[in-house]
Amino acid sequence: MFYLFVLGCTTSNSPNKIENPRERISINEGWKFMKYESEALADNLIYDVRPAIENVDDTKEADSKPTEAVEMATSAEVLKPYILPTANHFIKDSTKHHKRPKGNPGENFPFVQINFDDHDWETVDLPHDWAIKGPFMKGNDAEVGGGMGRLPSNGTAWYRKQLEIPKSDQEKSIFLDIDGAMSYAMVWLNGNLVGGWPYGYNSWRLDLTPYIKFGESNQLAIRVDNPNHSARWYPGGGINRNVWLTKTNKIHIGQWGTYVTSQGVSKDSATIDFEVAIVNDALSNETVDVVTEIYPLENDFKRLGLRAASIKENNISLNSFSQTTIKGSVVIKNPKLWGPPPTQAPNLYKAITTIHSQDGTILDNYETVFGIREVIFDSEKGLIVNGESIKIQGVNQHHDLGALGAAFNLKAAKRQLETLKELGCNAIRMAHNPPAPELLELTDQIGFLVIDEIFDSWERKKTPHDFHLIFDDWFEADTRSFVRRDRNHPSVILWSFGNEVGEQYTDEEGAKVGSKLSAIVKSEDPSRPTTASMNYAKPNMPFPTIMDVISLNYQGEGIRDAPAYAHLQGIKTSPLYPAFHEAFPNKAIISSETAAALSSRGTYLFPVTGDISSPISDGIGGDPKTGYVSSYELYTANFGSSADKVFASQDKHPFVAGEFVWSGWDYLGEPTPYYSSRSSYFGLIDLAGFKKDRFYLYQARWRPDLPMVHILPHWNWPERTGQITPVHIFTSGDEVELFLNEKSLGRKKKGLFEYRLRWDDVVYNPGTLKAVAYKNGQFWSEETVHTTGEPSKLDLKTDQDDLLSNGKDLVFITVKITDNKDHFVANANNPISYTIEGPGEIVATDNGDPTDLTTFASTERNAFNGLALVIIKAKKGASGQIKVTANSSGLQSGSVTINCQ
Ligand code: GAL
Repeated sequence: MFYLFVLGCTTSNSPNKIENPRERISINEGWKFMKYESEALADNLIYDVRPAIENVDDTKEADSKPTEAVEMATSAEVLKPYILPTANHFIKDSTKHHKRPKGNPGENFPFVQINFDDHDWETVDLPHDWAIKGPFMKGNDAEVGGGMGRLPSNGTAWYRKQLEIPKSDQEKSIFLDIDGAMSYAMVWLNGNLVGGWPYGYNSWRLDLTPYIKFGESNQLAIRVDNPNHSARWYPGGGINRNVWLTKTNKIHIGQWGTYVTSQGVSKDSATIDFEVAIVNDALSNETVDVVTEIYPLENDFKRLGLRAASIKENNISLNSFSQTTIKGSVVIKNPKLWGPPPTQAPNLYKAITTIHSQDGTILDNYETVFGIREVIFDSEKGLIVNGESIKIQGVNQHHDLGALGAAFNLKAAKRQLETLKELGCNAIRMAHNPPAPELLELTDQIGFLVIDEIFDSWERKKTPHDFHLIFDDWFEADTRSFVRRDRNHPSVILWSFGNEVGEQYTDEEGAKVGSKLSAIVKSEDPSRPTTASMNYAKPNMPFPTIMDVISLNYQGEGIRDAPAYAHLQGIKTSPLYPAFHEAFPNKAIISSETAAALSSRGTYLFPVTGDISSPISDGIGGDPKTGYVSSYELYTANFGSSADKVFASQDKHPFVAGEFVWSGWDYLGEPTPYYSSRSSYFGLIDLAGFKKDRFYLYQARWRPDLPMVHILPHWNWPERTGQITPVHIFTSGDEVELFLNEKSLGRKKKGLFEYRLRWDDVVYNPGTLKAVAYKNGQFWSEETVHTTGEPSKLDLKTDQDDLLSNGKDLVFITVKITDNKDHFVANANNPISYTIEGPGEIVATDNGDPTDLTTFASTERNAFNGLALVIIKAKKGASGQIKVTANSSGLQSGSVTINCQ
């Protein structure tokens, strides 16, 4: 069907305020929650049986070969057949749609009844992660090991909430929209099993309408069942994203029912192609008019600018109980393009689509935010955005928010992105699953380039209970819903349908599975390329042929190929950029994972390797007794490479579009190399949000115009007096002179393919280290590090002084230990306790130490190498002043005051 267009021009400003028949109501607040104490006590309303767990190795290297799935047969009664129909909307071939069997399992189960007494259940607000409060599970035999973060994310739980639906809604359609529930969620309304969705990272919708009692209280009950051994990282547990009730007319725009793309993009003009999927759930056929008006968004991303265009089609016939898609195009003159800063700006537009009945009644009103940009992946020039070549300076990010766990929080997500921006990062790979939808709103607004990724496993498994268990039933629905949800985000530039999957190893057979996924992605969004990351597949194998962009994990710069890695077992490859480039001359190459370097912030171990990249072994670079890894930033996972080695390889292969470092922030779980810990060592930024030395190594490269110089290590080494204590310097300049106690230790210049300046023979004497950096012979920047006195004071700093008491806003307070001259004591680990006065509460504390198994909710915790973090929120609806005080025996206390309203 066609959609006529009206050329973009206008005199009117924002649209007239209209009564919107569509309502999107947050139902996050006031749920009742109960988790069974153990699996043995859980009810038997199971989705499906799972294979028994045998001999799992939680500490398996990330690049170990995935294994075949285990065949299962069962006679147990399972609810899967009742849940599968929820997928139908995302299964293209209607002959493959699932038919719901007769019956209503669970109808007599107490928790789904409206009169069940849940007053002694916990009251929680969503997004909720039941596991983050801990406690951490310790020891080698812990039920949940280091790989999944030692927190009780496993188990079965129920959420209950009553919904009042007025009689006046009787003519409406009412949907439950869940942005993500971890995992195997199944939903009952008023005792009726409505449907559900197993994969915890996808967003999904249920039509509640047939089960609603209008003018009454309606009992919603959601069962969530999160298996142990389901991931190689911390999954969190529970409904950990936002939940909405959407009310529409019977005639309405479908779920994620608009699709905007642009072509012929230049600064003078762009053609916008716009699709709208209209659902008619009414008993009769109808005829409607549809208009879409397009406005630029002002810098606050809220106010509308002058209307840029509108697209209109009248007299669209809609058959009863069917969906009709209409398509239209319009040209926008002088579009404000979306592009990554600092050279471009993330300009956004809002399309407002209105459906009118023939008598002029507004039936639906739906908003779509989008951006106009041209993205090209070129095999020689790399990434080109709006005509400009942009090197990808990216990081991989997991979904968790450190001490806050997997429950999505906008403020915490923003803090992560802002720190990455300061780093000079311009791109993020969502490793290895779809993020909360709000995260992509942020990447649109800040201007990050995003690889949106869906799977870490397909049919072959990495852990006994990962996605492979449901791949066959759900791959199409998960893949389609993932693309449909995210395809209007300008920040998304590439779809990844897999990460290091086991199918890399199975030649044609594995490639066939990948082709199937790639085809699904393309049928939902032909406008973007697809990829899947490879750490094993080589250029002569079938696997790389199935994708548009070649994504290499670690293989580009070579795996276990440098001298210090020669003795290791596992995948070994020379640098493979040239071989892939030659085999696929028309495909762009990115490094979707680089480095996998490791460090514990502020910890330095001696001796220091003379190599530029080294694995950790028996006391070299890491200390198995303490669980710390040296921050000289030269040490890596067995398959990794230091930043220095990666940078050299990137610079020697300029056709590579850029890299995504593993990882931007530390995350919960996967604590390579010490699985007694709770969180990773890979980040450039630690779990608490504090910058490691490596942050500055990347900043020096990624922000060449920012005058900076960074010295490591700290200079408090009373036990090392007279001993060799190497000093390494990271700078965006090209030359540095180093002084110890005002005596020059020489001036050094970076050579070709050198990214740090190292003085490996400095003999430690207390005092002052000073680095003076130069660029092109001119002074550029300087930094001084002092040998400090004893810890003396606690210095507190907030990231914002005002706090909204909406239950969600957070203030992050950094606690710094200083001596009596206010110098930062970088090796102080004093115990700190916190008190709070006024209408606020302490949500969590942290220090970025992966070995610290104190629960995150604790108000007492040691500082780690001079720093600690406390996160607070205001009591809901309160106003006034909140005072947070940090105390430590023998130190002067510190405090901050925050205004909440
Ligand atoms: C990769 C994997 C990542 C992470 C990383 C660091 O092989 O794709 O998910 O495990 O190694 O260990």
